[in-house]
Amino acid sequence: MQSPTGEPRDLTGTRMELEVGPVAHGGHCVARWDGQVVFVRHTLPGERIVAEITEGREGDRFLRADAVEVLEAAPGRVEPRCPVARPGGCGGCDFQHASLATQRELLGAVVSEQLSRLAGLEREVTVRPPLDDSAPDGLGWRTRVTFAATDDGTLGLRRHRSHAIVPLDDCPIASRDLPDVLSLPWPAARVTAVAGSDGDALAAAYDVRGELPPLEATGVLSDGRTVHGRGWVRETVSGRSFKVSGAGFWQVHPDAATTLVDAVMRAAAPKAGERVADLYAGAGLFSAFLGEAVGPEGAVISVEGDAQASRDARRNLSDLPQATLIHGDVSRALSLGHVGERCDVVVLDPPRTGARAKVVRAIAALGPRTVVYVACDPAALARDVRTFAELGYTLGDLEAYALFPMTHHVECVALLEPVGP
Ligand SMILES: C[S@@+](CC[C@H](N)C(=O)[O-])C[C@H]1O[C@@H](n2cnc3c(N)ncnc32)[C@H](O)[C@@H]1O
Repeated sequence: MQSPTGEPRDLTGTRMELEVGPVAHGGHCVARWDGQVVFVRHTLPGERIVAEITEGREGDRFLRADAVEVLEAAPGRVEPRCPVARPGGCGGCDFQHASLATQRELLGAVVSEQLSRLAGLEREVTVRPPLDDSAPDGLGWRTRVTFAATDDGTLGLRRHRSHAIVPLDDCPIASRDLPDVLSLPWPAARVTAVAGSDGDALAAAYDVRGELPPLEATGVLSDGRTVHGRGWVRETVSGRSFKVSGAGFWQVHPDAATTLVDAVMRAAAPKAGERVADLYAGAGLFSAFLGEAVGPEGAVISVEGDAQASRDARRNLSDLPQATLIHGDVSRALSLGHVGERCDVVVLDPPRTGARAKVVRAIAALGPRTVVYVACDPAALARDVRTFAELGYTLGDLEAYALFPMTHHVECVALLEPVGP
């Protein structure tokens, strides 16, 4: 049916009863209504619900909806721990209504589905909690949170697929060690709160339009410049210390760095004297342990695009003369031959967009015996795995970790090896 203007009818606000099908990538489940696909949040596979359309018109490829009433609950359903983790509330969490075991099942199903659909591979994927999980209830783990500020300086998080800010006086998944930024007004567009593993805490405010409030923290930054204290935190991983400046990239779960270093080192199995590339190296987390393993006869070539992260990495790797840091774009560094002509092992940990075909082709051209792909997006991983397969690299072990409890994010560590002798 068309609206009086001749446009397809806007279905926002329409309610209907739905049987909910499987989980899909992005924190929602799939249902069907009147021949249309509906992506529904706040529900679980197998539930019967009343859904309310939040986005979409008749004839659209798909609609978006929230479950506003649960008529038959799935066994994994629990009461959300956060009062704003609900339809129309905060968009930060996707799965507060699921037990942690159910969340891990959902994440495993998503990784399997992405591998099947985008890489043509059938795999059962088991998602595990981080090693020595210090947040076994899935709360109080997030050591880096970027809050948005309203015009009057109140901090909060954005609603799902919206610019609207939900004001917060607490965020249950945030680390209790974060500086208390939520109790103060901030004349800024956004504020990142950071807690380092060694007890440092800082706040970085961006698009600042006034004087920053007094905050008890190791450091306070304004638009990247330190205005109080020091502008970096220290992170310790397996006895090694790392400096991470400002709100620069570091894994957000306190056990994530240890978990990923363990998984990467087991998959890469670097030997003394080998030549290893660490692409998208951040502050040098993997490079440090790879460098220790290959020893002074070996080499680690780390590539990182962010200037501050590169400076941190250079400093964090300064005790390892076998480590060389290249500051620049990975694709450019590979195509200019800066990583060299061959590598025994390549570790890559790209951003959410993945490495993409050009970088994958350049990695394969280095002829590594092993590629270890650390992925924060299973769709990007699956697409790149497909490209690797076309170049003769098949997927071996794949480990998956729930390093972002209550959200749809999942971290994978995939081993790729050349086929045949
Ligand atoms: C997911 S983080 C991984 C960092 C590091 N492996 C870790 O675990 O701490 C991705 C890193 O890639 C960097 N990056 C993103 N795109 C890049 C590009 N095209 N070239 C080089 N570095 C890039 C980002 O600055 C970020 O530090």
